[in-house]
Amino acid sequence: MPRPKVLATRPLFESARQILNASCDVDYWSAPERISREELLRRVADKDALVCLLTERVDDALLAAAPALRIAANVAVGFDNIDVPACTRRSVAATNTPGVLDETTADFAWTLLMAVARRIGEGEQLARSGQWTGWDLDQLCGADIHGKTLGLLGFGRIGRAVARRASGFRMKVIYHDALRAPEAVEHELHAEFREFRSVLAQSDFLSVHVPLLPETRGLLGAAQFSLMKPSAFLINTSRGPVIDESALVHALESRQLAGAALDVNEKEPQIHPGLLRPNTVLAPHLASASLETRTKMACMAAENVVALLSGKRPPNLLNPEVLQSH
Ligand code: DGY
Repeated sequence: MPRPKVLATRPLFESARQILNASCDVDYWSAPERISREELLRRVADKDALVCLLTERVDDALLAAAPALRIAANVAVGFDNIDVPACTRRSVAATNTPGVLDETTADFAWTLLMAVARRIGEGEQLARSGQWTGWDLDQLCGADIHGKTLGLLGFGRIGRAVARRASGFRMKVIYHDALRAPEAVEHELHAEFREFRSVLAQSDFLSVHVPLLPETRGLLGAAQFSLMKPSAFLINTSRGPVIDESALVHALESRQLAGAALDVNEKEPQIHPGLLRPNTVLAPHLASASLETRTKMACMAAENVVALLSGKRPPNLLNPEVLQSH
């Protein structure tokens, strides 16, 4: 029996490669530059499975170019790059990597929160510049974190992991989510549910943890920023298009907000030039980027592929409807 053919758009990590290589013939894209769309369509054409990143679009055109494809395994928890209904129509399983990156992403949301509150970017620049003339009383004074109000938009696994960390700072935690959390969870995390507008109005730090969906695209724009405190900081580790960046730039310029720390951007990898200002902290989509977590994510994607190709249900299947047709 011929071994199934897999395209992986990155070399992955050794442990993930071992999982795939044990039962599949894998074409790893290992050039330093990303795979182009043309090359992706060309290479996927005869493959049974695709292991892809959030930078690759799995849409109807790709699926049409890959008639043998049975699974698209995203190495990410977010899957806005995958047209899941199109996959389902073509009986292609779609999978993601939930759970393994929650704590690492929450760590990073806190990294950003602390960096923007305490002006670490500006401080580091000054320390490295050779221009520092010594301690001064009013030099780079930021905002306290402890005792403040942390607002969370989205209270799933990652939002809750962010909330858990707030107790060490004796913060008040409020959240909004389309689905209110069970009372036991609210109690454990000392988190209080609020209406969307109240979270905006009451937060000193507002951290965003919603998936990118039609209803969350542009969730935060001029109208929402106008409800926030001028002393508030915005932190985003979810997806860039959840925020209207032009409106954010205006809010930062006009001091309607104190600062923003963004791991994600509306048009990655482009950074809105208006965001290159002192009261922002910017990172290139790094929230899950610890070696341990990225390795786990790649292994999960590999396991999803191997499960499907060996006739089992992939552990992280997004469209279970396809199983009937396999
Ligand atoms: C995801 O998994 O969706 C992140 O954005 C990258 O880890």
